[in-house]
Amino acid sequence: MRIRHVAGVLALCAPLGSLLATGPASAEDEVKVGLLLPFSGVYAGLGTHIENGFNLGLEHFGGELEGVTITVERADTEAKPATGLAKAKKMVLQDKVDVLAGIVSSAVLGGLRDFVHGAKMPLIVANAGNDAMTGPKCSPYITRVSFSNGMINRPMGPWLAAQGVKKVYAMAPDYAAGHQMIEAFKATFTAAGGEVIGEAFPPLSGTKDYGPYISAAKAAGPDAIYTFFAGGAAITFVKQYSDFGLKTEIPLYGAGFLASAAYVHVQGEAADGIVAALHYVPTIDTAENKRFQEAYQAKHEKVGSEFAVQGYDAARMIVEALKASGGDKSKLAENLRKVSFDGPRGPLEIDPKTNNVVQSIYIFRNDFKDGAVTQTVLDKVEGVRDEVNGCAM
Ligand code: PHB
Repeated sequence: MRIRHVAGVLALCAPLGSLLATGPASAEDEVKVGLLLPFSGVYAGLGTHIENGFNLGLEHFGGELEGVTITVERADTEAKPATGLAKAKKMVLQDKVDVLAGIVSSAVLGGLRDFVHGAKMPLIVANAGNDAMTGPKCSPYITRVSFSNGMINRPMGPWLAAQGVKKVYAMAPDYAAGHQMIEAFKATFTAAGGEVIGEAFPPLSGTKDYGPYISAAKAAGPDAIYTFFAGGAAITFVKQYSDFGLKTEIPLYGAGFLASAAYVHVQGEAADGIVAALHYVPTIDTAENKRFQEAYQAKHEKVGSEFAVQGYDAARMIVEALKASGGDKSKLAENLRKVSFDGPRGPLEIDPKTNNVVQSIYIFRNDFKDGAVTQTVLDKVEGVRDEVNGCAM
């Protein structure tokens, strides 16, 4: 397999000898990937991590298939559904990509679902957790390798209840992912005897001051606060929570994007003690994860985050799906959902009933030590799988 990145992105080619032997790619042996990610706005950093991981995945696994050239084209979706849909349409109708990958925001995924489904265009979701897209709005063309919003948060309900936490105040950005993450937590927390005594949903973009929300949460008198924030919003929220002096008074829990390895170095001591759940933490002690982290850090001088792993695994899935069909790209959609492997996060497979990933969820604490934050795994729930939830394919 040869890999070329168009539009001046990154170029990775097989050794010169094999290039000369195979000659230029023809349309049949070229697989065009359209990478749709936010490179600006509140989720900009997430897009960069996913793209870095994706490129590393192509580098690590792309050599396994002879005679195919992968070209990658990228477009900035921001976190805006209309922008994401316009960019997806251009990639499919004008640039004639063979497969789409990426998508960070649940709202962006929701906005382009019907177009992708109607166009029968394979899409591998490398972040957006929108539960409906592997539930009632599932599609044989949409496969998710990242997570669903529900599967990240469900394990935290009984876990918090077991710590003796009884009353929680919940907070998340006001859009699909924020509501779905809090709903999932609430369902299992209340089933375990807990109570959500209040909640707030600040706007996703443009909230610079979480002070009024934090004050309202404090006034409600909860045992703990449970949140989902990511990207720029997470950095701001965690710092302001600490600046308000609440960190030592009311413990902070949530979906682990709150203190992602992508930006926890910016949050620093403010992230100390946050307990959260994710499908990947950099401290997972396996040979696969070590290999990934060493390669990622050697290239980017940064720890590889869950976002980078999602990109890495998305690239691997495309390669594996092509391998399964001997390079026949017309079989990509049907083969993506059959892929399974042991990656940096542990074993993963795709549930053929929903096209959603099945994986372990890690509950971990962020510990600030010697000027840096590390993740200590406290618990691991294996084989987390979503209910079919109305998906009929
Ligand atoms: C989402 O919108 O689905 C989303 C965005 C950022 C995250 C996680 C989920 O970190």
